[in-house]
Amino acid sequence: MKLKGANVLVTGGAGFIGSWIAETLADKNNVRILDALITGKKQNIPEGVEFIKGDVRNAGDVRAAVKGVDIVFHQAANVQIPLSIEDPVFDSDVNVRGTLNVMEACRKSGVKRVVYASSSALYGNPEKIPTPETCYPDPLSPYGTSKMAGEYYTKVYSSLYGLETVSLRYFNVYGPRQNPDSPYSGVLSIFSKNIKEKRSLTVFGDGRQRRDFVNVRDVVEANILAATADGVSGEAFNIGTGIAVSINEIISMLGKIAGKNLDVMYSERRQGDARKSCADTRKAREELGFSPKIGLEEGLRELLQS
Ligand SMILES: NC(=O)c1ccc[n+]([C@@H]2O[C@H](COP(=O)([O-])OP(=O)(O)OC[C@H]3O[C@@H](n4cnc5c(N)ncnc54)[C@H](O)[C@@H]3O)[C@@H](O)[C@H]2O)c1
Repeated sequence: MKLKGANVLVTGGAGFIGSWIAETLADKNNVRILDALITGKKQNIPEGVEFIKGDVRNAGDVRAAVKGVDIVFHQAANVQIPLSIEDPVFDSDVNVRGTLNVMEACRKSGVKRVVYASSSALYGNPEKIPTPETCYPDPLSPYGTSKMAGEYYTKVYSSLYGLETVSLRYFNVYGPRQNPDSPYSGVLSIFSKNIKEKRSLTVFGDGRQRRDFVNVRDVVEANILAATADGVSGEAFNIGTGIAVSINEIISMLGKIAGKNLDVMYSERRQGDARKSCADTRKAREELGFSPKIGLEEGLRELLQS
């Protein structure tokens, strides 16, 4: 499914996933970005896209940004789990109040659909792996809690006010442009930066923790499907590959691609880290037609070359 001729707002569009969504849609749609440039960067903003520097915590900024918009991809968030543990009120301000500001502005300005970036972090250590959407949410951090609250708000806005909303529970998204600079950035962006700079890799824990890594291009496709599919308002979908790979396995794949043995250091396991995470992708496949196309080896190769 393709989007064409729509007026689109991407909140957090100067960030990793948002900039890929904006770039992909800019070709055939009118795209606007709202971003406070907190973790996002100006150089990520694609050409031909309107940029509003503003904060989702500020209702006025959000109202101005949604004017005339048909579809909103709400990506702006505090994405740093340690910061959410240190300062849960800040995290909630951005992720809960910020999301409410977006939902309110959309409801009042006639936006047709909101696609919300939720997170697998809301599952915590789930009872079932691969985890279906019906699993009881049990987050391990304020971040997971705020993402869950944001998602529930989008659901209520669908049932109560008839605003079409769809939540996508991203698993571990990776790809070029992911910021490697914070200690809690996506592990693959940090590993690829360290390999390029000939530095050692640090693993928190024993490296046997498993993650479902999904390429950002597939995540963009999931967003487009969520923006265009019929009969999915108020629903949440897992966006992953259904394959869980351990950090140790990733390191040996990266070593093979880089053609050398990588220097690895093991450090203490971190608070708020799940042991294993893997999406049950059946619902996304059946109701959105989502099927991830980029294999991990191909994605890692691109990451090391970017
Ligand atoms: N990357 C992943 O693996 C992953 C996994 C699950 C969920 N998510 C969700 O996907 C979305 C995008 O994440 P990302 O990885 O691209 O992170 P990112 O940090 O690259 O992007 C977030 C963007 O939001 C902006 N932002 C932050 N606070 C803001 C505010 N108050 N007002 C306006 N803009 C603000 C940042 O400047 C940044 O550009 C987030 O909602 C995140 O919770 C990401």
